[in-house]
Amino acid sequence: MSAGGLPTVLVVDDKPASQGSLRACLSSSWRVLEAADGSQALALLEREAVDLVLFVTKPLDQGELELRISPLLRQVDDLTRLHQLKDELLTLLVHDMRNPLFGAAGYLHMLSKTPDLADQSRGWLQAALVALSRLDESLDDVLMLRTLEAGRLALELEPAPLGSVVRDALGTLEGAIREKSLSVSVVDGAEPVVAIDRKLVRRSLENILRNAIDYSAPCGRIEVAVLALDGGAAVEVADRGPGVPESMKTEIFEKFTTVDASRRQRRGYGLGLHLVKVVATAHGGAVTVRDREGGGSVFRMEFPRTRLPS
Ligand SMILES: Nc1ncnc2c1ncn2[C@@H]1O[C@H](COP(=O)(O)OP(=O)(O)OP(=O)(O)O)[C@@H](O)[C@H]1O
Ligand SMILES: [Mg+2]
Repeated sequence: MSAGGLPTVLVVDDKPASQGSLRACLSSSWRVLEAADGSQALALLEREAVDLVLFVTKPLDQGELELRISPLLRQVDDLTRLHQLKDELLTLLVHDMRNPLFGAAGYLHMLSKTPDLADQSRGWLQAALVALSRLDESLDDVLMLRTLEAGRLALELEPAPLGSVVRDALGTLEGAIREKSLSVSVVDGAEPVVAIDRKLVRRSLENILRNAIDYSAPCGRIEVAVLALDGGAAVEVADRGPGVPESMKTEIFEKFTTVDASRRQRRGYGLGLHLVKVVATAHGGAVTVRDREGGGSVFRMEFPRTRLPS
């Protein structure tokens, strides 16, 4: 499924005319990619996530072509409708889960204020509150992704010092950092200001930092650098975790991709980095990961210098 919410079809055909008619038939429900031959198709398949490949065999005239693919198109329409319905139900469900979650967290919070509570019970209540807030973060990611993918979320761009957004994100994660006795340093020499959607970028940085925390050994160090670039700015988060295998360096930014659940205690959904990618792309920027010298990884989220709409 593409970032615009449409499934992707790759049409392999060497005739521009039939490419054109297929494009006209398909483009309302599909993101259409085109290749003139098998080798172009293979190159595209390496770069793009494709849901369906259509090889057009010859000889074929336009009428025959339309006749051949019309049952397929009907099926595709039905599937697309079903897919949309499923997505809408999921969004509704996730949205409605947040109210009881918020209620439960409120009661636990009140309970944790009871004066003569045993230390052990206070610890359990704290752990329950942390677990609920993690669940709330995940639900928030699902909702943001849905809105972004449906193209319904317009970026609310405002000039923001990138370093202050990093510090906001770190503030949210203070508990988790303390729990693992990690030390986090932030280097923000040039203090760049960029036009960004502050809430979305903060959530994205929280995801990158959250991963760095999850993958660091207790008492480890995480180093964050805020960089001013010629054409914009970037944030780099460096950890000393297990690193990301070469073969997964692009894939981890796709939805529901996790490397190896046994590498940490918490089971993730593989949504966090996908959200980061969608947000970075929506800003005209990018997110990448590279190996860190001496072990670990460096995640880099980059933003171009954007002019604010006047
Ligand atoms: N700092 C890191 N060090 C090593 N591996 C990482 C790091 N960050 C991410 N990964 C790998 O990339 C995968 C995808 O990360 P992502 O944040 O998208 O999902 P998740 O953390 O597993 O789940 P979620 O964020 O949805 O709760 C992770 O499962 C992990 O395998
Ligand atoms: Mg994550």
